[in-house]
Amino acid sequence: MEILIRPDADQASRLAARIVARTVRQNPRAVLGFATGQTPLPLYRELVRMHREDGLDFSAVTSFNLDEYVGLAPSHPQSYHAAMWANLFGRINIAPERVFIPDGLAVDIPAACRAYEESIRKAGGIDVQILGIGTDGHIGFNEPTSSLASRTRIKTLTAQTRRDNAEFFGGEYKVPHHVITMGLGTILEARTCLLLAFGKTKAAAVAKTVEGPVTAMVPASVLQLHQRAILLLDEDAASELERADYYRFVDANKPDWQKP
Ligand code: PGA
Repeated sequence: MEILIRPDADQASRLAARIVARTVRQNPRAVLGFATGQTPLPLYRELVRMHREDGLDFSAVTSFNLDEYVGLAPSHPQSYHAAMWANLFGRINIAPERVFIPDGLAVDIPAACRAYEESIRKAGGIDVQILGIGTDGHIGFNEPTSSLASRTRIKTLTAQTRRDNAEFFGGEYKVPHHVITMGLGTILEARTCLLLAFGKTKAAAVAKTVEGPVTAMVPASVLQLHQRAILLLDEDAASELERADYYRFVDANKPDWQKP
C-alpha cells in the first residue's frame, strides 16, 4: 500500500485529481470507477475545474459507480445517480451512454448485478477506482463480514452506516436498508485503487485497514492484497497510524520517476 498523507483534504484531493487526469490523458478511453458520499466531493470539484480550465476531456471515458440504494429512483435527491450527475457528470463532458451506476429499481436484482459485472468486463476493466471508507471499514457498501471474494450484489447496511448517513435523509428511519454494491472481488480487479479518507472519524478504520490483519471484519483491509492501492489521507485520518513517520519518509524520498 502507498500511504500519502497531506495537510488537508483539499491537497489530498488535488493529488487524487492529478492521478485521475494523468490516467485520462494517457488513455482518453480510460475506465474510471467513482464513489459517492462526502469524501470525493473536493476531488470532483477539482476534476470539473480541470475540465473547464485545462481542457481535461472525458468524452471517451467510461465510468462505473460503486453502489446505489435499493428502491431509490435516479431522480431521488439522495440517490447516487442524482449525486453523481449533480457533482460531476453534469459538469463535465462524459457521454451519458458510457456512465454506469447500479440500478436501485432493478426488479431482478441478481440479474442486474450479473449484467453490471459483465459491463465492467466488456469495458476492459476499471483503470482507476476511487474509494471512500466507512467508519466501520466498508468500501463500496461492503459491510463487515463481506466475502473478500464478493462480486456485485445486494447488501444490507449496518446500523452504524445508516446512522452515518441519516443526516442526508433527514432521519435514520428514512435511510434504505438495502443497497447494490460492487463486491470486494470486483474492486480488487481495478488496476489502481485510490482510497480517500479525511477527518478523525475515519482514523480508526484507516489504521485497521493499513496496519491490522486482512479480515472481512474490516473490508477495506482487503486492499493489502492489491498491487497498487494508494491511500490519500489528511492528517486527521492518518492520526492513528503507528508507522506514519515511515510513510511520510517513503513519500518524501521517492525517486522522481516514482512520484504520484
Ligand atoms: P463519506 O462516506 O465519504 O460520506 O464519509 C464514505 C463511505 O461510506 O464509504
